[in-house]
Amino acid sequence: MRRPFIAGNWKMNLNRAEAVTLAEGVAKAVENVDYADVAVCVPFVYLDAVSQVLKDSKVAVGVQNCYFEKNGAYTGEISVEMLKDFGCTYVILGHSERRHILGECNAVINKKVKAVLAAGMIPILCVGEMLAEREAGETDDIIAEQFYGSLAGISPEDMKKIVIAYEPVWAIGTGKVATPAQAEETHANLRKLIAVKYGQNVADSVRIQYGGSMKPENAQELLNQPNIDGGLIGGAALKADSFMGIITGAKK
Ligand code: PGA
Repeated sequence: MRRPFIAGNWKMNLNRAEAVTLAEGVAKAVENVDYADVAVCVPFVYLDAVSQVLKDSKVAVGVQNCYFEKNGAYTGEISVEMLKDFGCTYVILGHSERRHILGECNAVINKKVKAVLAAGMIPILCVGEMLAEREAGETDDIIAEQFYGSLAGISPEDMKKIVIAYEPVWAIGTGKVATPAQAEETHANLRKLIAVKYGQNVADSVRIQYGGSMKPENAQELLNQPNIDGGLIGGAALKADSFMGIITGAKK
């Protein structure tokens, strides 16, 4: 019912030549994939080069942030129209590294979600608890706060377009993956939040990715869970073969 969606988050990695080579490798690897949507979210400066490589491929292109104002005196920022100009489809928003290292709050993320939707692109909204929060039994409260705060004022129609990525902060880049049962429990709770706010119909259509040390070895079991609809992949997306190994795990 929900088509699996696997997205790579390249973060602040690679040089231009490596980015192009990786994009070419991913395009080739997924040539015959008809069971999942695939995207790579690249550093801004490689968007142009990677979009050109991927323009006739099955791989969509995204980025990892944007600014919410249309244009003007916002030194160092990138607008949604600029991104669209370069063939961008997806924008990761509210990643934990932006929340916790760069101090982004739900109110700012909410403005960005609205700007991305208004430009006709698709937000991949990240939510997730830190280790201390999980250990204190606060996971559901944190997720709810991020969900309601980041998606304030979003209509049911727009909600259907949004992708959510559940990324437990303690599992990102640590090799410490959430167990399929742990991830499934949080995904199911997230879907309940969507149902309460938007109705079951919308909740059933929203894709919720898991992110945090997903690898070819653990992808299939995670992706087999009923409420896990894909993955947001960091480290393992930096090599075409390991990224492809994860995509294969989405085959039912
Ligand atoms: P990881 O990163 O796969 O390297 O844990 C995932 C993410 O931060 O999106």
